[in-house]
Amino acid sequence: MPDATGPVLPADALRRLEPRPLVGEGVGLRPWAPSDAPLVAAAFADPGIAAWRARQPDEQDDDADAWVRRWAERWAAGTDAAWAVTAPGDDAAQGYVGLRRIQAFDGSAELSYWMLPEARGGGLARRAAATATAWAFAELGLHRVWLVHAVANVRACAVATGAGFRAEGTLRGYLRADAGRADAHLHARLRTD
Ligand SMILES: CC(C)(COP(=O)(O)OP(=O)(O)OC[C@H]1O[C@@H](n2cnc3c(N)ncnc32)[C@H](O)[C@@H]1OP(=O)(O)O)[C@@H](O)C(=O)NCCC(=O)NCCS
Repeated sequence: MPDATGPVLPADALRRLEPRPLVGEGVGLRPWAPSDAPLVAAAFADPGIAAWRARQPDEQDDDADAWVRRWAERWAAGTDAAWAVTAPGDDAAQGYVGLRRIQAFDGSAELSYWMLPEARGGGLARRAAATATAWAFAELGLHRVWLVHAVANVRACAVATGAGFRAEGTLRGYLRADAGRADAHLHARLRTD
């Protein structure tokens, strides 16, 4: 009988991989750089991003420099992998996509994303979500990538569905975002989907 009790991934699975740019269909992902901090500050000031931002315990402030810097530390700790989203062949960051709460034990992670207002509507978010998820399955070796979005956030729902994340139900009062407590839709993709 297979051993279902052991971890799916080695504990250092993420640390074995170097943060590097990824090229997807019609989208680029690259590691965050300190020079991206002003753009991140602008993103934090956007009401749409601010409203749905689910802050981790170490993200209670809006310090963009620290936010950018922490991704390298989190990668080294094996907990999170995140990229700046760019148009193909362009280095300018237009948004964010990240795999959060990476769990080696069960081979899962949470996907999250935002786009700057001027970069929305062209499909970059959907393509970035699909590219980060493909990397999570093929290179990191995850089994399940899930995401949640506020039920009212229909654009986030369209990105999830368009990137192949099936709807799995409604989580009542799950989201603790700046906009307050909200019911959330749960979506997920399995490696085997
Ligand atoms: C959610 C967000 C990342 C989407 O970015 P985007 O660039 O608009 O996304 P895309 O262009 O890839 O796709 C948007 C989808 O929403 C659809 N859409 C756009 N406006 C819509 C609306 N008012 N109602 C319903 N669907 C809408 C588009 O048709 C597209 O669907 P399609 O791919 O099936 O055509 C962006 O709106 C954002 O950053 N919002 C604020 C932060 C946020 O909500 N993050 C997610 C938290 S879970």
